[in-house]
Amino acid sequence: MRSFDDELLELDTKSLKRELRWVNSAQGSEIQMDGRRVVNFASNDYLGLSNHPAIMQAMKDGVDQWGAGSAASRLITGSMTPHGELETYLAELKGCEAALSFSTGYSASVATVNALVGMGDTIILDKLAHASLIDGARLSGATVRVFPHNGLAKLERLLESAGSGRVLVIVESVYSMDGDLALLEDIVELKKKYGALLLVDEAHGLGIYGKLGLGLIEHLGESVSEAVDIHMGTLGKSAGVAGGYIAGSRSMIDLVVNKGRAFIYSTAPPPAQAVAALKALEIISSSEGDSLRRKLWSNLETFKTLLRDVREFNPTSGIIPWHVGEAEDALALSNKLLDEGVFVPAIRYPTVPHGTARLRITVTAKHTTAELEKLSTVLSSC
Ligand SMILES: Cc1ncc(COP(=O)(O)O)c(C=O)c1O
Repeated sequence: MRSFDDELLELDTKSLKRELRWVNSAQGSEIQMDGRRVVNFASNDYLGLSNHPAIMQAMKDGVDQWGAGSAASRLITGSMTPHGELETYLAELKGCEAALSFSTGYSASVATVNALVGMGDTIILDKLAHASLIDGARLSGATVRVFPHNGLAKLERLLESAGSGRVLVIVESVYSMDGDLALLEDIVELKKKYGALLLVDEAHGLGIYGKLGLGLIEHLGESVSEAVDIHMGTLGKSAGVAGGYIAGSRSMIDLVVNKGRAFIYSTAPPPAQAVAALKALEIISSSEGDSLRRKLWSNLETFKTLLRDVREFNPTSGIIPWHVGEAEDALALSNKLLDEGVFVPAIRYPTVPHGTARLRITVTAKHTTAELEKLSTVLSSC
């Protein structure tokens, strides 16, 4: 029997071993990591809300009023007023009949996909869909088909040949490791043509797209929004807190409540988490959220200009993939940047396919021009 150490050694030899890095400060554009200050280009906190005073206060007030934990799963006694208030607010914002919140985006994906399709049904996934969506698909027992990233022709062939059960197309609005966008309008046309269901994960779209910051779906307008059967997202990235959500029809939500195992068999998130997440959504959809969005896009423009002589790119989200190729080289580059006081994580297999390792740079509204200059200078010199 192969030992755990042997398996770890093998990962290490291939430059695929992961190690935890300790952050000894609050999150922000600058953090204390392993005892030293570094500029942070690794966070999904695109608007910098993780230490927004009003959200922190909401969390504290939530603890004072509702206690530290929810004591049971939602279907036992863990469904508390703050969970309901968050869900009502989410449904209203999204223009949907109902919404449901989860401890994490990961559990939202797994519970939802698992609940809505099963044996005899078909899931059609974009090849770059997030691990949580893939795991939900695998667990569901449905037939799983994959189309190349944004490959509409193949998507159509798969829709044509899907069986007679439910057919669920799953995409992200903003792809987490590439930062590019789903061809949502075309995908909507196809899903309508073949009568399929569509789930869109807005994990990296929330906060950065749309007048109210609700994501790419809002940005594209009602014709897209109405065609999305399952709006999904997380409250741990732009919202700066933690948690996941889905929104859609009342019957879709009720089915997930009844059949989503990751929802049913798990303690409800702390009520204070829901109080803080609601406050974060209020801020995202306010004029303050709008200013933060503008700052994020202007930071992205500045960064693009700073690097124009080194590499051309057109940011379509807070995520900028800096393609390297081999895992070993990506790791070496990430370490070199860290030596210079800049943290940008190396993304390797299995998060991305073999041979496509990269640095995943995330720019936020909180980065200063000096911090953007620092990263661009270090990247240029590497
Ligand atoms: C596209 C996508 N979906 C879902 C998730 C899971 O969300 P959470 O981190 O809230 O579990 C992530 C997080 O990495 C993600 O990038």
